[in-house]
Amino acid sequence: MRKPHILILGGTTESRRLAGKLAERGDLDITLSLAGRTETPMAQPVPVRSGGFGGPEGLAAYLRNHAIDLMIDATHPFAARISANAAEASGLTGTPLVALRRPAWERQQGDRWTSVATMTEAAAALGETPKRVFLAIGRQEAFHFECAPQHHYLVRSVDPVTPPLAVPDVRYILSAGPFAEADEYSLLTENRIDIIVAKNSGGDATHGKIAAARRLGLPVIMVERRPTPDVQAVGTVAEALLAVDHILSPAMKRGV
Ligand SMILES: NC(=O)c1ccc[n+]([C@@H]2O[C@H](COP(=O)([O-])OP(=O)(O)OC[C@H]3O[C@@H](n4cnc5c(N)ncnc54)[C@H](OP(=O)(O)O)[C@@H]3O)[C@@H](O)[C@H]2O)c1
Repeated sequence: MRKPHILILGGTTESRRLAGKLAERGDLDITLSLAGRTETPMAQPVPVRSGGFGGPEGLAAYLRNHAIDLMIDATHPFAARISANAAEASGLTGTPLVALRRPAWERQQGDRWTSVATMTEAAAALGETPKRVFLAIGRQEAFHFECAPQHHYLVRSVDPVTPPLAVPDVRYILSAGPFAEADEYSLLTENRIDIIVAKNSGGDATHGKIAAARRLGLPVIMVERRPTPDVQAVGTVAEALLAVDHILSPAMKRGV
């Protein structure tokens, strides 16, 4: 009897935790898929495959060729393309799909957020007057801010921004979360930051800057999430584990 095979689309803290929990059971084969962009990826508790599949058709072929019984989309809430591909590939192959999406942060009393839909809108929302901006959106979309070169930018990312931004006043910090609120408070004050640009990623790991901004009364340009594909979704690793049981138990009783 073969074990059910789960493909986790990952690249997040939750995907690593989920993979670890599922691996502990011993009755499942787990493969974790990463985009392969990070220069020094974190160690993972299960076998990893790396790199794009080649669009929804490529992902569908992978699901068939590797006899995947369940796919879990545990990618970052801003990784829109792979989530759309997962929904399409699930439809093409009939492979069950569950999305693990951490809830977005919600505005609280004291927050001074300007919500925008795109990075281009975020750059415009900084205004004409030069400001000291903490750009905490990762490296891939930082180039959108080249159209507002009047600001000073403090850019934080896991890997270097390449090519460097074509703006005259920029400093880079290479660092991976989680980030504690007290450290974020120090970073913002020591760098005399006027305004933060953030993605509404949700979760605890990168919330420290939002909490610190609230304490300091600093404005945040919050780039909100795009609508996600209409698939079965859960918000936590615990809920994902329950969904796995629910979806796979008939197959496991049959012996797959
Ligand atoms: N966007 C963010 O803010 C962010 C933050 C933290 C971590 N991440 C992680 O970084 C990865 C890339 O993010 P992104 O925003 O560039 O994604 P994206 O725009 O949704 O995906 C672009 C392409 O990268 C490939 N890809 C993405 N995730 C993959 C995965 N887990 N396994 C295999 N291929 C994958 C797919 O290529 P093919 O079409 O060729 O299959 C996809 O079409 C994601 O896995 C995500 O979880 C993203």
